[in-house]
Order: sequence, then C-alpha cells, then structure tokens
Amino acid sequence: MNKARKKLIAGNWKMNGNRELLNVFTRQLIVPEGVDALLCLPAPYLAFVSDSLFKVGAQDCSEHENGAHTGDISTAMLQELSVQYVIFGHSERRQDHNESDAIVAAKIARVLQSDITPILCVGEPLAIREAGQVFAYVQAQIDAVLDVCGDKFFDKVVIAYEPIWAIGTGQTATPEQAQEVHHFIRSYLVRKNPRAEQMRILYGGSMNASNARHLLAQADIDGGLIGGASLKIDDFNMICQAAG
Ligand code: PGA
Repeated sequence: MNKARKKLIAGNWKMNGNRELLNVFTRQLIVPEGVDALLCLPAPYLAFVSDSLFKVGAQDCSEHENGAHTGDISTAMLQELSVQYVIFGHSERRQDHNESDAIVAAKIARVLQSDITPILCVGEPLAIREAGQVFAYVQAQIDAVLDVCGDKFFDKVVIAYEPIWAIGTGQTATPEQAQEVHHFIRSYLVRKNPRAEQMRILYGGSMNASNARHLLAQADIDGGLIGGASLKIDDFNMICQAAG
C-alpha cells in the first residue's frame, strides 16, 4: 500500500462521443480532492477542450517524429494541444491495427522524449487465463516496452491492466482477480527498480459505477481506465467519487 499514489480515473471514449457530450463533461464533471480525472478523447475533439477540471489525453500517436505518415498524429502536435496523456497498446489497436509489442514500445519510447505521460495497456485473452499463463503473458508485454525504454519507464509510464475478456463485455474481473495481477506487476517491476512503488497501475474492463469502489479499494489498484461508463456523466462522476 502506498499513500503517495494519487488515484487516476481515465475515461477512454474510443470512437464515441461528440462535441455536445464534451460540453456536458466540461460543465458537469466533479473531481474530488485527491483524484486525477482524465478523458482520452478522439483526436478531432482534443482542440476543443478548454477550462476543464479534467486532464486531456489522446488514444494513440505515432512512433515517428514527423513526415510522410498519412493519418498519423505526432507527439509535438499533441503537445501543442496541451495533451498530457496518451494510451498505447490498447487491445483494440493491437487487434484492429496489428500493433505488435515492438510498435507499442517504439511509440512509448517516442512519447517519453516529451513531457506527455504514456498509458501502457496490457492484458490477456480468455484462453491465456484459462491456461494459467496470465503472469507470463503480461510480463512479456511489459518487458517489450521496458527493454526499449530503460529507466524512464519507472518514472513516467502508467500501466493499465485490461483483461481482454472483461473489455466491453460487462464481465468485470473480481477485485481479487485484478489485485492478484496488479500485485504481480508491481512486485515484478519493484524488483527491477524500487521506483516502481510509485507507478500507477490502473484496472480496465467493464469498470462501472457499481463495481468501482471495490476495485479501487485494492492495495495495488491506483485507478481505472474506463470505456463504456466514461460516456455517461453520472456514471463517470460516481466512479470519480468512488476514488476520492
Ligand atoms: P470498458 O472498456 O470499460 O467499456 O470495458 C475499457 C477499455 O477498453 O479501456
């Protein structure tokens, strides 16, 4: 347990929402004392955030500095919009865009050259859980990034443990299942570098207004990465409340 780790409640809007919803969140989000609230928005909306109580994140950016990469967005562009966080390695990007561990590592290495904080998503498919291979699977996903990024990893990266079978399915990991993996990740990283004690490890996968409190009460769960429930202001407010 570590009191220094401030809870981070991160909404991942994915390819959802519109400017009206952004206005609703800007007007109605309540962020309790001691909690960081973050919305990772679709790129077109990043330019429209102003005077918000929440921090602003993107959902991806390029491993390249600039150049002929049609459709991609650079770290420098995000910095111009005061973006503070970027999600990398979400299972939907690994699947839809064939993002390998190596690409995820290259993207995170790039963003670590700026002051933007990367959120590294890891997590196993159901077959891996059923085969009892969760720790090895998650460790390999983390090692791929650690090997490329070195010690900066421990100072800057936020990890999101998102079991794939729990994402968008309503089938949340139990607080005990989640804590078991979070504890594994923390112990593994602390053995490599004691500064990992300060790293925030978020849980993601059907976190909602009713299960957030129990999940967030676990010793190594430092926040949430929330998809569906981050599109409803009342639910998101309740989750932020549960973290406070
Ligand atoms: P979910 O998504 O909360 O809708 O399960 C979480 C995520 O994909 O980050």
